[in-house]
Amino acid sequence: MKLLVVLAAFIALCAGTAIPLMPGDNSHYVEGESRYIWMPDGEGVPHLVDLREPVDEDFLRTRNGTNNHYWLYTRLNPTNPQRIVHGNVHTIWSSNYNASRPLKVIAHGWNNNLNSNINPLLRDAFLNVSDANVIVLDWYHLAGGFYTSAVRGIPSVGYSLGMFLVWLIDTAGGNWDTVHLVGHSLGAHVVGNAGRAAGGRAARVTGLDPAGPLWGGNSNALNANDGVYVECIHTDGGLLGIHDPIGNANFYPNGGRNPQPGCWISTCSHSRAYQLFASTVVNNHLNGQMCDNIDQVQHNQCSGRTFPMGNGVLPKSGSGLFRLTTTSSYPY
Ligand SMILES: *[C@@H]1O[C@H](CO)[C@@H](O)[C@H](O)[C@H]1NC(C)=O
Ligand SMILES: *[C@@H]1O[C@H](CO)[C@@H](O)[C@H](O)[C@H]1NC(C)=O
Ligand SMILES: *[C@@H]1O[C@H](CO)[C@@H](O)[C@H](O)[C@H]1NC(C)=O
Repeated sequence: MKLLVVLAAFIALCAGTAIPLMPGDNSHYVEGESRYIWMPDGEGVPHLVDLREPVDEDFLRTRNGTNNHYWLYTRLNPTNPQRIVHGNVHTIWSSNYNASRPLKVIAHGWNNNLNSNINPLLRDAFLNVSDANVIVLDWYHLAGGFYTSAVRGIPSVGYSLGMFLVWLIDTAGGNWDTVHLVGHSLGAHVVGNAGRAAGGRAARVTGLDPAGPLWGGNSNALNANDGVYVECIHTDGGLLGIHDPIGNANFYPNGGRNPQPGCWISTCSHSRAYQLFASTVVNNHLNGQMCDNIDQVQHNQCSGRTFPMGNGVLPKSGSGLFRLTTTSSYPY
C-alpha cells in the first residue's frame, strides 16, 4: 500500500501534475509538461495557476479587447489619469494629449490592473525623463480571469489596442516614429499583437520577460516584426518567461534565468524585468555585451560589442543576444 502511494506520487510527478507547495517557487516546473505554476499578481503575490484549466468560453464571450480601458498621464497630470475612449473624440480634446510629444504605452500582465506596481513605476520613469504622453492600458476585465482564458484573449486585447492607437494618431495627430510600446509578461504579447495590428509602424516594442507558459510555438506571441525595433529583457526564462530570443535585440540580465540577484523565487525574478527596465529609462546605465549564441549567454562568455539595455531613447535599433550583470537592488 505504502509502495503504491509512493508510486502514485512518482507517476504524478512524472506527468507534471504534482501541486507545487512553496508559493512563488517554480523549481519543479518543466516547460510544456508541468500542469501548475506560480504566477505573481500586480503586487507580486504568488497565485497557483492551472495550465490545463479549460478555457472559459462564456467568460470570453463578453470579455475581449472592446473592454480595454486607456488612461493618459502627462507631466500636467502625472498621477490623475484621463480616460480616452476609442471612438469618442471629445475624450481626446478634453485631455492633455499632445501630438507633438512622444507616446509611451504600458501593458500589464495576468491578474494585474491599472494600479498594479508596474504602472506607476514605468509611468513615473518615463515622465521623469521626457514630457511624453503615457498611456496605460487596463485590461483587467480579461487579465483577472483564468490564465488559460487570458491567454486565449490576448490577440483581441492586442488588436484593440493597436486599432485604438491608429485611431488616436489618425484623429489627433502623433508620430509613429516616437511610439514606444512596453508590456510585461502577458502584456508583452499584448503589445506584440498591438504592434502587428498597427502594421509594425511603432518605433519600439519592448517585451519585459514575455510570458512563457502556453506561448512556446504560439503564433500569437510577440515577434521581431511587431515594430520597427523589438527588444526583450529576459529575467525568468524557462519558467514564467520565454528564454528564446524572440525580438531583434534580446537581453539576458545575469543569464536571463531565475534566480535574479536579490531574488530567491521565480515570481520575483519575473517582476525584476520591469524593475530593471524602469531603472534604465531614468539612468540608462545597464549595457549588454554581445554573445555569439545562447550557450555563451548561459556560461557568461560574451565578449562582443556593448549595447544599452532598455532605456526610453528613440530611435533605437540593433539586434543580437546581449548578456549583462546587475546588482540586487535599485538602480541595479
Ligand atoms: C466582446 O465583448 C463585448 C462586450 O462585452 C461583446 O458585446 C461582444 O460580443 C464581444 N465580441 C466578441 C467577438 O466576442
Ligand atoms: C505640445 O508640445 C509641444 C512640444 O513639446 C509644445 O511646444 C506645445 O506647447 C505643447 N502644446 C500644448 C497645448 O501644451
Ligand atoms: C526625476 O527623478 C529625480 C531623482 O529621483 C528627481 O530628482 C527629479 O526631480 C525627477 N524629475 C522629474 C521631472 O520628475
